[in-house]
Amino acid sequence: MAKKKHTMFVCRNCGSQSLKWLGRCPECGEWDSFDEKDETAFTVSARDGKEPLIVHIADVAMTPADRVDCGSPEFNRILGGGVVRGSYNLISGAPGVGKSTLMLQIALKLAHGRKVLYLSGEESAAQVKLRFGRLSRSDAQSGLFISNENNVDLLRGIVAQEKFDVVFVDSIQSVFSSAVPGIPGSVSQIKDCAVRLLEMAKKDDITLFVIGHVTKSGTIAGPMLLEHMVDTVLYFEGDPTLGYRVLRTTKNRFGSTDEIGIFTMTAQGLEEVENPSQFFVSNREENTSGSALALIMEGTRPFLIEVQSLTTNSNLPQPRRVTSGIDNGRLAMITAVLEKRGDVYFSSFDVFVNVVGGLKLKTPASDLPIAASLLSSMFSIAVPSRVAFIGEMGLAGEIREVPGIELMLKEGARLGLKRIYVPVLRHKPKVKGLELVELKNIFGLIEEIRTMKIFE
Ligand SMILES: Nc1ncnc2c1ncn2[C@@H]1O[C@H](COP(=O)(O)OP(=O)(O)OP(=O)(O)O)[C@@H](O)[C@H]1O
Ligand SMILES: [Mg+2]
Repeated sequence: MAKKKHTMFVCRNCGSQSLKWLGRCPECGEWDSFDEKDETAFTVSARDGKEPLIVHIADVAMTPADRVDCGSPEFNRILGGGVVRGSYNLISGAPGVGKSTLMLQIALKLAHGRKVLYLSGEESAAQVKLRFGRLSRSDAQSGLFISNENNVDLLRGIVAQEKFDVVFVDSIQSVFSSAVPGIPGSVSQIKDCAVRLLEMAKKDDITLFVIGHVTKSGTIAGPMLLEHMVDTVLYFEGDPTLGYRVLRTTKNRFGSTDEIGIFTMTAQGLEEVENPSQFFVSNREENTSGSALALIMEGTRPFLIEVQSLTTNSNLPQPRRVTSGIDNGRLAMITAVLEKRGDVYFSSFDVFVNVVGGLKLKTPASDLPIAASLLSSMFSIAVPSRVAFIGEMGLAGEIREVPGIELMLKEGARLGLKRIYVPVLRHKPKVKGLELVELKNIFGLIEEIRTMKIFE
């Protein structure tokens, strides 16, 4: 009996497969997108037999993770000490946040002594040159080349032929592969291009930086596969209207994901911010209630940040809770603990909380400063300007220790703080010029804010 020929139906838009023809793709929701394909199209091509199938671990040739200095201390730090040769790095962020600017700056730095290709699928070479002019003064000897080629297969050929060391792709949504159907930016195209670029990075030992757009909800546009495939995922965030930008790692196969890099956008491009504390503290008036300083750690770096709160009598049936820079759930938890454990009631008040500078406070070490600013506004008692808070708050109202206290205290002393409220510490570090006040629970905090006096 003749063997029955099997066919599959594949979505033109997202590549999802089905045994039957479907009018609408269940994965991506596209209508009339299924094409019939022969099953043989899905078989994996035979191995060329050059490489053994398995290798003993002792026989694996190893080069120590070869890190390359990107010429930018902030950028090096968030990658874990420079970019690893042959790594696949994905940079994402909102439109206009400065992804292309940052990448071109890094490309310029890397082009000293290396051959670098900047593929711009979104801007013409002339437009890239215009930005180049803004960023650089004299780079005649640089090894930077620009291309507008959108076809990844051709790109791979050019890279191998011209022996490039580093390739920038701006952006993964603008390149395409002729092997799969669909327009550039569609899920199937992104998947295929990402795989082809991965092969290029790993087989040809090319260091790759790929820019990815974000969706409305802020995640990288395209399949999740993209993030799984790459070695590092960096997010460039910050409101374009604010002066500074934060670069954050969410995945790093070669280093920590806690580090952040802070930059400011200037006419000459992105500049590194060496002293971030100055950015996140407003020019505070003495004697203003509702403001408290928080010492926090972002990765290995401590800095000072200001939290402002405003509590006002509400005449709404459901008083307002408006936050910027902290999660609404966090505020709800902190106010609930203050109500239940501390007998300070917020239920008839509108509560507004703002983190100065637009940074997003995610660390639990900022519970205590948020609570302090809320209480300061509630009691209309100002916290003196050289006082800061560190500590996590538990649901029972206890104040818990957080990692990195010693570094935070040193930063506090360096910035001229006089007194810092901390949790009860097992090892009390001695920092010159700082008065440490240990708080066991929120009663201690409430008492301190109630009796706070402006000193100096
Ligand atoms: N001369 C200048 N001075 C200061 N800032 C500038 C100047 N020119 C451009 N910018 C800033 O650079 C930003 C654009 O940067 P860039 O094109 O790198 O962003 P992008 O993230 O690549 O955007 P897209 O998603 O559109 O590709 C602008 O929003 C603007 O803030
Ligand atoms: Mg861009």
